[in-house]
Formats: sequence, C-alpha cells, structure tokens
Amino acid sequence: QELKGEVRFERVSFFHSDHPVLHNVSFHAQPGQTIGLLGETGAGKTSLLHLIPRLYEKHSGEIYLDDNPIEVFDTKSLRKQISLVPQDVHLFSGSVRSNIAWGKENAKMSEVVEAAKQAQIHSFIKTLPDGYDTVLGQKGVTFSGGQKQRLSIARALVRKPKILILDDSTSALDAYTEMKLLNSLKTQQCTVFIVAQKISSLKEANQILLLHQGKLIAQGSHEELLNESPYYREVFQS
Ligand code: CTP
Ligand code: MG
Repeated sequence: QELKGEVRFERVSFFHSDHPVLHNVSFHAQPGQTIGLLGETGAGKTSLLHLIPRLYEKHSGEIYLDDNPIEVFDTKSLRKQISLVPQDVHLFSGSVRSNIAWGKENAKMSEVVEAAKQAQIHSFIKTLPDGYDTVLGQKGVTFSGGQKQRLSIARALVRKPKILILDDSTSALDAYTEMKLLNSLKTQQCTVFIVAQKISSLKEANQILLLHQGKLIAQGSHEELLNESPYYREVFQS
C-alpha cells in the first residue's frame, strides 16, 4: 500500500520486557508536517519512533497510518516507504555512492546526487579525490561526525520516503547547515520526525512532542510550548 504520510497515535503505551517506556501517548501528524521530539535521555523518543516502521511490535492503544491500523501493513512495504536514520550512524568501507545507495542498490547516479544535495553533503563529496567513487577509509579519507550524519541522511532520502525519521541525526551539524537541510526537506512531500536537543532545530516544526519519562507532557508549536509549558521554558529555552 502506498503511504500518504499521516501518522496517528491513540493512547499508545509500550513496554520493553517489563519496563514501561511509553504511557498513553496520543498525537496526530498530517502528511508533509515536521514533528519534533524533545525530551531527556531515556524519555522514550527512540522507542516511539521505532513503533512507526514496526521495528517494535507489541504496544497497547492504536497506531494508524492514513487511517488504517498499522497492523494491516506488511513490514517490508512499510520499511520501503519509511526511512529511519538511526541514532548510531552505520557506514561501511565501500564507495560513497554505494553507502548512499545502500538498501536501494538500483538507484541511478542522478538520484544519488540529488539525495546528497538535499542532505547538504554533495559539495563535500565533490572535494574528495574520486568524488562519489571515493572509498571510505582509503587514501586517508575519513568523515567527520557531521559528514557521516549527512551521508546517512542522503541514504534515507534516496529511497524517497513518505515518512522520514531523523533520530538525533543532525546533532553534529552547525545550525546553518541544519537549517538548509530542514528547508530542503520541506520540498520533499514527506512527513518528517526529528529528534533534536537544540531548540533551534525544532523552532520551525509544525508540532513539538515533549516527552518526559514516557509521557507526552506537552505538544504544540514552539510558540505554544513557550506559552504553555514551564518545563519547555525551563529546560530547553537556554
Ligand atoms: N529501553 C529498554 N530496552 C531497549 C531500549 C530501551 O529497556 N531495547 C528503555 C531504556 O532503558 C529507557 C527507555 O526504554 O528507559 C526509553 O529508551 P529510548 O526510547 O531509547 O529513550 P530516548 O528518549 O531515545 O533516549 P536518548 O535520548 O538517550 O536516545
Ligand atoms: Mg534515543
């Protein structure tokens, strides 16, 4: 089934073995929206996001994608349309091109370049000795943390996802590069979930979900949260 990118959680709770991780979480993301996730370490951000491509299964409450219960989608077709950039970037010692095309081996060169441009890593790749054919780890080519993050975002984008999940994937980017990246995603027609610690990364989000110990303690735009949530003001305004 083709996804449109709408995601709805209704009173979703989730346990890791016996450990409660998410408690009664409800939100509604419209296709094309950017949803920010904010919360201290261990708050449940990664767990929540892993439920969307069904990497975690057993939850209570309902998750809907475009009004269909998530259970009706087979995981293979879901994961084709939902790109998740994990918190720990994984690159291998192949070429830059094959690293970007990983998981979509039939990607055309033009698609690889397009994804790299959107991820703000194309101009860096052009400076490498063999450009897109440069092999990572060879000839002393190493990538910085932020370059690795952008490469893995390019890998996610080359699949033209309907839902893009960035789990702390922009933490090593400077604010300017991150802003350019987020702007280029806006032209993508995909729903974006972004975990970030910097308020500057989330200011433009349509909604911010503020998680605390597995509970959604506030949700709204940056301005709304500033007005309504003392916790948001205190912890994250600085
Ligand atoms: N957890 C667990 N088993 C796992 C993954 C997570 O028991 N396989 C627990 C963690 O110990 C934590 C809770 O689930 O108490 C939420 O973890 P997570 O969703 O990973 O939290 P994040 O908000 O993503 O934390 P961080 O900012 O550190 O990534
Ligand atoms: Mg996490």
